[in-house]
Parts: sequence; structure tokens; C-alpha cells
Amino acid sequence: MLHTPVMLEYVTNILAPTPSKTFADLTFGFGGHSKKLLEYGCTVQAFDRDPNTKAEAAKLSNLNSNFSFVLSKFSTIYDHLSVCDGILIDLGVSSMQLDQPERGFSFSKNGPLSMTMGLNSLSARDIVNSWKENDIADLLYFYGDERASRLIAKNIVKERNNKQITTTTELANIVSKSKKHNKKIHPATQSFQAIRMYVNDELNEIVNAMNIATRKLKQGGRLAIITFHSIEDKLVKVFFKNSGFILKKPQPIFASHQEVEKNIRSRSAKLRWGIKI
Ligand SMILES: C[S@@+](CC[C@H](N)C(=O)[O-])C[C@H]1O[C@@H](n2cnc3c(N)ncnc32)[C@H](O)[C@@H]1O
Repeated sequence: MLHTPVMLEYVTNILAPTPSKTFADLTFGFGGHSKKLLEYGCTVQAFDRDPNTKAEAAKLSNLNSNFSFVLSKFSTIYDHLSVCDGILIDLGVSSMQLDQPERGFSFSKNGPLSMTMGLNSLSARDIVNSWKENDIADLLYFYGDERASRLIAKNIVKERNNKQITTTTELANIVSKSKKHNKKIHPATQSFQAIRMYVNDELNEIVNAMNIATRKLKQGGRLAIITFHSIEDKLVKVFFKNSGFILKKPQPIFASHQEVEKNIRSRSAKLRWGIKI
């Protein structure tokens, strides 16, 4: 269930921690990146919206007085975040969230239809059981690039007219029977991703995170952002172009072959970073 931090060496080299510096890790997860930064004697303020990350964060703050943690979404972080030398945002779901069936993120393990990271006002079950057919189809198409969105939405509505759709397996089966299968990925991948992104308001949250990070970075401070989805990466790319950062490298950085071999999740990771002017 451990989460292997992605691009750990790159992130460490970019943020260049020293004992006198202060960093913020806006996506604590299991703390892989925070723990690495702390090894250099710097100060780390960490945040996450998932209440399940609190136990690991509490262990770390008991061990190291340079570490602090606040349970918060990006959009409500401003007042808790002190001005700092570097900020990391490692987006997406953690392995802990994906691997625990009771969180309802996984199409391959049965669980309640939830997909909430924490501090949510909406769950996947609400969308699937109460939205209009057209709205579900648009959601699957725009956030998941799902070509079979209309048919999937139609079948969701047909199914829920018999009984509420309450589990991940029920939803995955409806999606699977609505489209042609591609051997490379599970047929429900895009639909689950789309619903998860909406449930957690992920795109608005990223924009909030980048704006707040810019205001809280010192001049010359560094912002590193890891994304796993093309829409997210586009937002980050445009943001860096227009928001007063120097980019040493305009192209994103990808995980090395060795890292991808060890941690398949790093295959779709893209890292972009900039220095605040
Ligand atoms: C990929 S994991 C981070 C893993 C972490 N870097 C590590 O090494 O263990 C992403 C984390 O970001 C959190 N997260 C995602 N969106 C968030 C948001 N809007 N506000 C706060 N935390 C968020 C998730 O709950 C998850 O724990």
C-alpha cells in the first residue's frame, strides 16, 4: 500500500533544499517527497485534503520539528501557507487512494461508488444516479475524452431506472458493455478518471494551487508541478508561460526508463518547473 514518490531525484535537484530554506508540499500523500526534503535539514509545511494522510503526517511531525501539516484543499490553503523558497504540487490520486477499494476509485476492485479524496461536497454516486443523461455524457467526453460517452450515459440511466448504481463494479460493468475494448487499457479507465476529476473539482483546484503558490513564493523561489493527465499538463504549461516565471526548460521532464520499470505509475508523469521572477 506504500506510495512510491514519483521523480524524487528531479524534484530534489530542482528545489535544491538547504537547512535555511522553507518548502511547501501541497500534496503530502504518504509523504515521500516531504521526507526526502526533510533529510536536508530544511523546513517543510505540508498539506493534503485526504483525512487518511493525517496519521503519517502526525508521525512525521512528532519525529521532526521542522515539519508541519494542515488538512486542506488547495483552494483553502492561502491563510495557512507561509512565504517560502519552493513549492511542490504532485497531482493526481495516490496509490493509497487507488488501492483501497473502500475509497471507490478503482474499477478493478469493488467498493462504494465514492471517488472522494476528502473535503468533498459531491460523490461519484451523486453524479451517476442524479445527473441528466446529457450532462453525464458531456462530463465523460470532456474530462475523459471518452468517445463512447453517449452510449455509456444512456446505459447508466437505463440501469439506474431499475436500481441505484452504488458500487464501482456496477459502474465498470455498465461502461464495459457500452464500448469496444482496447487491449491496452481497461474500458472504464477514462470514465472513472472523468468522474473522479469532477467529483474532486480537480481543474479548479489546480488553478487555485498555482495562483496561491505564486503569491506565496519568494522572488527566486521555485515551483515544481507533476501532472498525470493531458488537460492538467496544458493548464500548467499555459500558467508557467503567462505568470511571471523563468523556465530553464520549456519542455516537460519525464521519468527515466529505470524509474518507469520500477514504478509503472511514473510512466504518465510530466514535471514542469519555474523560478519566480
Ligand atoms: C500523487 S499523491 C502525492 C504523493 C506524495 N507526493 C508522496 O510522495 O507520497 C497526490 C495527493 O494529493 C492530494 N490532493 C489532490 N488534490 C488535492 C487538493 N485539491 N488539495 C489538497 N490535496 C490534494 C491527494 O489527496 C493525494 O494524497
